[in-house]
Amino acid sequence: MRVIALMNQKGGVGKTTTTVNLAAALARESRRVCVIDLDPQAHSSAHLGIQEDPERETLYDSLVHSKPLTEVTVQGSGGVWVVPSDINLAAAEVELAGVVGREMLLRDLLEAESSPFDYVLMDCPPSLGVLTINALTAANEVFVPLQPHYLALHGMSKLFSTVELVSRRLNPPLVISGIILCMYETGTRLSAEILNDLEDYLDKGRTGGKKTPWSSADIFRTRIRRNIKVAEAASFGQPIFEYEPGCHGSRDYASLAREVMAQEAARLPRSQAA
Ligand SMILES: Nc1ncnc2c1ncn2[C@@H]1O[C@H](COP(=O)(O)OP(=O)(O)OP(=O)(O)O)[C@@H](O)[C@H]1O
Ligand SMILES: [Mg+2]
Repeated sequence: MRVIALMNQKGGVGKTTTTVNLAAALARESRRVCVIDLDPQAHSSAHLGIQEDPERETLYDSLVHSKPLTEVTVQGSGGVWVVPSDINLAAAEVELAGVVGREMLLRDLLEAESSPFDYVLMDCPPSLGVLTINALTAANEVFVPLQPHYLALHGMSKLFSTVELVSRRLNPPLVISGIILCMYETGTRLSAEILNDLEDYLDKGRTGGKKTPWSSADIFRTRIRRNIKVAEAASFGQPIFEYEPGCHGSRDYASLAREVMAQEAARLPRSQAA
């Protein structure tokens, strides 16, 4: 099982859109996929068709009241299973403040069950608080969605050092295994320049022979192009493949899923690729 945190503390870069559509693309390839929504905004729950319901138990109940994840997991659209979130999760940060081992709650919950999934994709909130740290501690990999914007790399060193810290203290096997360019404007100089800067940035981290959690990060060849249908699909509670199967967005996310699956044969240790 691959447990992947989609993380970037920068807001609005495509974390949720990519979590949902990559999950649906993998499900179309007959993979069993669960999305864990770690954002109190509950955008990925909504995007997967899970309506707000005050009666529904969510990730909040699992983290704060130790409810097994299987008891809060529901079926979303596109053949994807979902551990939904809601606004109560915003209080978890405060409620867990005094709890010893609060960074490891999600990992313990995942380990307590024999999970039937091939992929668990975790949609992180745009912050580096206890929810994101829980995702990083439970994950074996991180994907970083990035928007090729002139401030795109601003904050990257903070992101990388956070992953390194979690890897050192809480979760040694953690690696950044992929960087995903989202809302890509084909043919613009800015997008190409940001891509070059990113490659330089990663190369700098690789020189000197020191192994870092991003030493083997791939910049996925698939770029997720800006496509209005991708944005519209969210408000219909559907992954892009259900909303507009023929659009660029569908093709891009299908292509990304193929690259993600190809990583298993190419790079992951046998234990993680199983
Ligand atoms: N490829 C795309 N083409 C057009 N619009 C997109 C694309 N990807 C994402 N968007 C839109 O950009 C906005 C931000 O995307 P998204 O919500 O996925 O980012 P996020 O990183 O999860 O944001 P937050 O940090 O608030 O959680 C949304 O309105 C989404 O519909
Ligand atoms: Mg989001």
